[in-house]
Amino acid sequence: MEFIDLKNIKNVSEYEKLEQAGKIIREGGLVLFPTETVYGLGANGLDSEAVKKIYKAKGRSSDNPLILHISDIEMLGKIAKDISDIEFKLMNAFWPGPFTIILNKTDIVPSSVSGGLDTVGVRMPDNEIARNLIKYADVPIAAPSANISGRPSGTSVEDIYDELADKVDCIVDGGRTNIGVESTVVRVIDDVVHILRPGKITYEQITEVAGTTVVDKHVLGKLEDGTKPPSPGMKYKHYAPNTKCVLVYNKDNNVTRTKLGTLIDNCLKSGEKPLLMCLSDNAKFFKDKNITIIDMGNSLDEISKNIFTDLRKADTFNADLIIIQGVSTEGLGLAIMNRLLRACNYNIITSGD
Ligand code: TXA
Ligand code: MG
Repeated sequence: MEFIDLKNIKNVSEYEKLEQAGKIIREGGLVLFPTETVYGLGANGLDSEAVKKIYKAKGRSSDNPLILHISDIEMLGKIAKDISDIEFKLMNAFWPGPFTIILNKTDIVPSSVSGGLDTVGVRMPDNEIARNLIKYADVPIAAPSANISGRPSGTSVEDIYDELADKVDCIVDGGRTNIGVESTVVRVIDDVVHILRPGKITYEQITEVAGTTVVDKHVLGKLEDGTKPPSPGMKYKHYAPNTKCVLVYNKDNNVTRTKLGTLIDNCLKSGEKPLLMCLSDNAKFFKDKNITIIDMGNSLDEISKNIFTDLRKADTFNADLIIIQGVSTEGLGLAIMNRLLRACNYNIITSGD
C-alpha cells in the first residue's frame, strides 16, 4: 500500500507526488484521499469493476449511488447531459466547492456508479489535493465518504485507518478536513431546487442564487417504512455510534441546560454512565459533574469540523447513554442537525419537560 503524506505542503511542486496515486486510480485501484468536506474512498468512475471495489470495501448497498468528482468543467460534458440554465447557475456559483448536483447521466457512466438510476451526482471539490489527483487520474473519480457504511464519515486519516487501510491501494494524507460534513446534495426539478442532503452550502445561499428552493422532508424527518426516497442514501442507517444516543435541543439554552442536567442526573442515579457532547458554554457549566464531556466547540463551523470525530470518540468511553446538544437549523445548523438526528436515530427531546 502506498502512503503519500501531504499534510504540510510548503510548495505546489509537492502535488507531483499525486502522479502515482492518479495512476493507481486510472488502473482500477482504490485511493483514500482528502476533500474539503470529508475523506473520499475513490476509484475510476468510468470503470465498473473498480467502482464495485468501493461498495465491497465499505459494505455499501449497491443501489446507493456514488458522486463523480471532476477537476474542471470539461469533464462535466462527458458524464452529464440536458443541463438547464438554473443548474449551470448553481454550478457557477458553488464550484469548486462542497456542492453536489444530480444530473442526467450519459452512457459512459456505468450503472454501478448511479446505482441503476439514469442520473449521476457530480461535484468539483475545492481542495487542491483532490483536484490534482483527479487531473493526474485523468478520469472522474467516484468517491463516497471514507468510512464503513453506517459509521461516521472520516475527516482525518487517523479516524479511518483501522477501518479502511487494508482495503485500499493508496492513502493520501492531507490532514484534518476543513468543513467536516459532506457536501450539499441538490436536484433541480421543474426549476425548483430540492435539497436532498444539507451541507456547508446552505438553503439560504441556494435560494439567493436560484430562487425557489425546498428542503426535502427527509432531511429532518424519518423515512416512513415502504416509501421510496428521492435519494437512496436516505434509506440507510447513518453516522451512528454503537452507544445509544439522545439529542436535546431548545432555542432557549436555559431550557436545554436544565434538560441536559436532568438526563445526566437520572443516568447517574440509576447507576448508568452518561457521556455529554455539548457546546463550550455548557461544557464549562457541567465541568464539575463527574462525567466525560466532549466539547463540540462554539461556532457552527467548529461543530461541523469536528462532529464526526466527536461521534467516533464518544463511542470509545463505554458510556450507557450519549447525551448530545443540538443546534438551531439555520444556515450550517441544518446540516449539523441532519447528521445528529440520524446518529441519534431520531431520538430527540425539544421540550423543557
Ligand atoms: O462531501 C461529499 O459529498 C463526500 C466527498 C467524498 O465528496 N462524498 C459523499 O458521498 O458524501 P456519499 O456516497 O457518502 O454520499 C452521497 C449521497 C448518498 O446519500 C447518495 O444516496 C446520494 O448522495 N446520491 C448520489 N448520487 C445520487 C443520485 N443520482 N440520485 C440521488 N441521490 C444520489
Ligand atoms: Mg457517506
